[in-house]
Amino acid sequence: MSSILTTSDRLMLDPVTTDKPTIRSLSLADLPQVIGIERRAFPTAWSPAMFAIEMSKPSTIALAAALPGRGRSRRLAGYLICSRYADVWHLMNVAVDPPLRRQGIAVALMAAMIERAGSQEAFTLEVRPSNAPAITLYERFGFRRVGLRPGYYRDTGEDALIMWRTAGSGVTSEAP
Ligand SMILES: CC(C)(COP(=O)(O)OP(=O)(O)OC[C@H]1O[C@@H](n2cnc3c(N)ncnc32)[C@H](O)[C@@H]1OP(=O)(O)O)[C@@H](O)C(=O)NCCC(=O)NCCS
Repeated sequence: MSSILTTSDRLMLDPVTTDKPTIRSLSLADLPQVIGIERRAFPTAWSPAMFAIEMSKPSTIALAAALPGRGRSRRLAGYLICSRYADVWHLMNVAVDPPLRRQGIAVALMAAMIERAGSQEAFTLEVRPSNAPAITLYERFGFRRVGLRPGYYRDTGEDALIMWRTAGSGVTSEAP
């Protein structure tokens, strides 16, 4: 998709972005930073235990977008958790630290997820219908709206929009 290429180019070239993140596996040592981002990103945050449980599953892809640096100064920009149930990958969580958004970091995480899982695999997710930034991101990766899950979000009672990405969903390029 040519629109995704535009975002990736910005990640590398935007003069505001001096530090290009590396996409690598998320580790338990990242959890304090993950929890910090999670609390800034969501009104109802996952607990550390929820991350640890998902990350412990062999069928989980857990990714970190890490800014350059050494040791404890190495700052996390975002993360993504995707778990395989039966033969479908479920995108469980993706977030980018608010000051670092609109620089292609989520695109880099999504592209790495699809590359690791395999572009022919089936993916699904739930998202709040009010979350236009996330829905736009997912649609650019070939996710399509397939229905609503009534009252899915316990904090607000909001329905969830169900999205699927399959090999036949019309995607011409899965990576930026
Ligand atoms: C959704 C989220 C992960 C996107 O992260 P990001 O790093 O800012 O996204 P990117 O810079 O890679 O943006 C990729 C594309 O997504 C879309 N997008 C992202 N943020 C957007 C916004 N605020 N408004 C409209 N479109 C947006 C755009 O198409 C964008 O491409 P562009 O910048 O070339 O226009 C981030 O906004 C976030 O962490 N939100 C809070 C957590 C959340 O809602 N996660 C999803 C739960 S289902």
